[in-house]
Amino acid sequence: MKKLYAILLALALTLSLAACGSSSGGDAQQSGGNDAQQSSDAGSGSGDAQTPPDSGSGDVITVGFAQVGHESDWRTASTKSAQDVFSAENGYELAFVDCDNDPAKQLEAVRNFIQQGVDYIIIDPIVATGWDTVLTECEDAGIPVIVIDRTVDDSDKYVSWVGSDFKVEGLACGEWLKAYAADKGITEINALVIEGSVGASATIGRTDGFKEIADREGWNILASQSGDFTEAGGQEVMESFCQSYKGQFNVVICQNDNEAAGARTAMDTAGITYGVGGDVILVSFDANKPYVQMVCDGKINANFECNPMAAPTVSDIIQQLEKGETPEKEVYVSEHWFAAEDNVTSITVNGETQEVIHATQDVVDARPY
Ligand code: AHR
Repeated sequence: MKKLYAILLALALTLSLAACGSSSGGDAQQSGGNDAQQSSDAGSGSGDAQTPPDSGSGDVITVGFAQVGHESDWRTASTKSAQDVFSAENGYELAFVDCDNDPAKQLEAVRNFIQQGVDYIIIDPIVATGWDTVLTECEDAGIPVIVIDRTVDDSDKYVSWVGSDFKVEGLACGEWLKAYAADKGITEINALVIEGSVGASATIGRTDGFKEIADREGWNILASQSGDFTEAGGQEVMESFCQSYKGQFNVVICQNDNEAAGARTAMDTAGITYGVGGDVILVSFDANKPYVQMVCDGKINANFECNPMAAPTVSDIIQQLEKGETPEKEVYVSEHWFAAEDNVTSITVNGETQEVIHATQDVVDARPY
């Protein structure tokens, strides 16, 4: 039966990819380094991605993946991870749809997967709400759904979620800034925030976490605006911030690496210095390798990792389901914090002491993605 599905799926996939567009990513490897959080290390162990599933019957397992889009380096790493893990040699048939950051397209992709009769559906939700109806349809069709990365906040009709604690990332950013400013004798924080995409749980969590510390410490958030997790968006927002708040800000928080790249271009053009020894403290999220290099080079002051390597854990979950086992409902990936200087070596987040890694060249070279 599954072989028939696989043939039909391959046919349908050819058509749906032509209609919806597809993308393949760049480098994706395994996460490593020091644990900063609780949870399962979804990114550790380079063998995980290559471990063939033990499906018992030898049947191909068909998986539909409704990916957010291709907006960032992080997304490229996430896509590549899924394509590596859900490969034919690992016993999978992957139907991949790049939803181009369009929530309607993502719902349509999930419904197409139901039509195609895939064995499992993976969703990285572009937005956190609006999911209950389509997840009910998946449930009615008997197709288990695994959510990765961003959360679904208005339905629990999925088997498991694998991803990051975005609020902890925002809290960590705030706690690091507090300790860094204290060490440098900086008594006033005037921050500009370039948020991620509107409605994404990654945006909501990072914004809430940082704001909680800012409110507690009495910092001034001059403005907070979406850059849509893209380099172009980050540059555009920062260009407007440079005009509106010239000379008034000493901190820029970018909610992902691509936005930080755009913000750097805008500040370079405006003649504003940032990073180690600069007038502005520049902070980023994701910690993709080229951007940890920027931390090492002193261009970004600190970077808070978001681990894109969920796919090996999702494969483990599928194998559990194949064996009739019940997987964990929530699995947190491990993440690490990186800083350009070694003046803050640890922070306390939610009562837990977490390491801040000094981003030396050795640390950069060991980065897997
Ligand atoms: O959902 C994860 C976020 O989405 C990453 O921080 C960002 O780079 C991506 O686009």
